[in-house]
Amino acid sequence: MSRKLRSQAWFGGDSKDSFIHRSWMKNNGLPNDVFDGRPVIGICNTFSELTPCNAHFRGLAEHIKAGVLEAGGLPLEFPVFSCGESNLRPTAMLFRNLASMDVEESIRGNPMDGVVLMAGCDKTTPSLLMGAASCDLPTILVSGGPMLNGKFRGADIGSGTDVWRFSEDVRAGVMSRDDFMAAENAMSRSPGHCMTMGTASTMACMAEALGMALPGNAAYPAVDAHRARLARLTGRRIVAMVHDDLRMSQILTREAFANAIRVNAAIGGSTNAVIHLLAIAGRIGVDLTLEDWDRYGHDAPTIVDLMPSGRYLMEDFCYAGGLPATMAEIADLLDLDALTVTGRSVRENISGAVNHAPQVIRPRGQALVAHGGVAVLRGNLAPNGAILKPSAASPELMRHRGRAVVFASIEDYKARVDDPALDIDESCVMVLQNCGPKGYPGMAEVGNMALPRKLLERGVRDMVRLSDARMSGTAFGTVVLHAAPEAAVGGPIALVRDGDMIELDVEARRLHLDVPDEEIAARLGAWRAPAPAMTGGYQSLYVERVMQADRGADLDFLVGRRGHDVPRESH
Ligand code: FES
Repeated sequence: MSRKLRSQAWFGGDSKDSFIHRSWMKNNGLPNDVFDGRPVIGICNTFSELTPCNAHFRGLAEHIKAGVLEAGGLPLEFPVFSCGESNLRPTAMLFRNLASMDVEESIRGNPMDGVVLMAGCDKTTPSLLMGAASCDLPTILVSGGPMLNGKFRGADIGSGTDVWRFSEDVRAGVMSRDDFMAAENAMSRSPGHCMTMGTASTMACMAEALGMALPGNAAYPAVDAHRARLARLTGRRIVAMVHDDLRMSQILTREAFANAIRVNAAIGGSTNAVIHLLAIAGRIGVDLTLEDWDRYGHDAPTIVDLMPSGRYLMEDFCYAGGLPATMAEIADLLDLDALTVTGRSVRENISGAVNHAPQVIRPRGQALVAHGGVAVLRGNLAPNGAILKPSAASPELMRHRGRAVVFASIEDYKARVDDPALDIDESCVMVLQNCGPKGYPGMAEVGNMALPRKLLERGVRDMVRLSDARMSGTAFGTVVLHAAPEAAVGGPIALVRDGDMIELDVEARRLHLDVPDEEIAARLGAWRAPAPAMTGGYQSLYVERVMQADRGADLDFLVGRRGHDVPRESH
């Protein structure tokens, strides 16, 4: 290689500084010749036993390292903040941006020429892509892979999706508590992340659709030998990417994001992809907007029949052909010339992909939902937008006018939702306030409010719900999310009162509060911001600087590509 690599600014030469950089590294057992100018590959590992979806990453990292070594590179693994969805309070999303800062500064500040991102649980994929995008080195992502299908009493059960379902069945009195606890053991059977098309699987698909991961990355189960092989090939490939100086900014183009948006519709992907892709685009410098989600996604059908929109799980998706087979089914909607980490185009990557299970990846003529893209709603209730996932909603509720039943916070909701005296029926619209980026803080996944017990007992299974929160990618229902501006900054959702009439018309993309403008203005005049949940520390920085959902809920000072130069030495 004629080009002098970035890592040589640390390891090359015979100065006092290069002595320091090399000598301390040698306590890892590294011999002299590994500092000879070969590509240094950072392996960015989100392993944590508190992030169970990523708890197998130590072993996976060894396969990546083997691939890097085989290709003549020097692998150096480093840990970064691991956002685990199932444990982190008040919500993992609060820490996505913090993790991305860790990733960005770890990459920029250290001697590496290329990066392998190891992602799994929901927020780990976007936080790694966001941080790495701000540095723009040659970068490739490998996912940890989904768990095997859950198995419970002869049936497949899916992470998250069946938790919501079972828990409603318990509250409705049609499932016993003992059966509920038995299902807990049957759901999570192997290492890996949620095996529904929740946010983790969606973001793994997004990474592959964006061209940031090798073909097949999204679907191989964590325990499948294909996953280990893919990790090894990823290690080999990043060395070649460094030689070719193939950077994230050459892959993450507007066309790549358009492809990902269409793929998200095809897979019935999580609404969280909206917020994460907006944030990643903001980092790399692509001006992606909420409108782009409607523009690119509107005509794309949902063809992947996976929970929560459909019936199957990621293991089935893998055997069916995974994302390459899905992208081949919608090839006419994609920009096939988009460049990917393979150094080849999407067209080349998916040529020869075969759909082995048309009941899982449906042919175009038998789509689950004809227009599967995320619907971006506007109106006086969400001037800067709100979203709804049609494939997870009830067709009969897509056009609805109902009386608002308002909960001022998640605590207020929990305290009153099952009160027999609550004045609510299935025609009402449940409104949850103060759960947005600043309000929660961190925009928790509470938008898919469980229905009142008295309605569940009557067999009601869906109602229109509206909030400034997010919902789990494994959840379902006619749920309007991400209303912007949020309640905590005085957005219109803060001004809704019990008894107001709310109109939802998904086809017309309309979300309307049927209250006179003068009355809304008067309510805004009397509105007072809620007290922050916590003062000081990272939370106060987050609340001060986080942008609204329509801007990806990134911190305003993190937007953009700052590159990887650090001209100043450390000693
Ligand atoms: Fe980690 Fe679902 S909790 S992917």
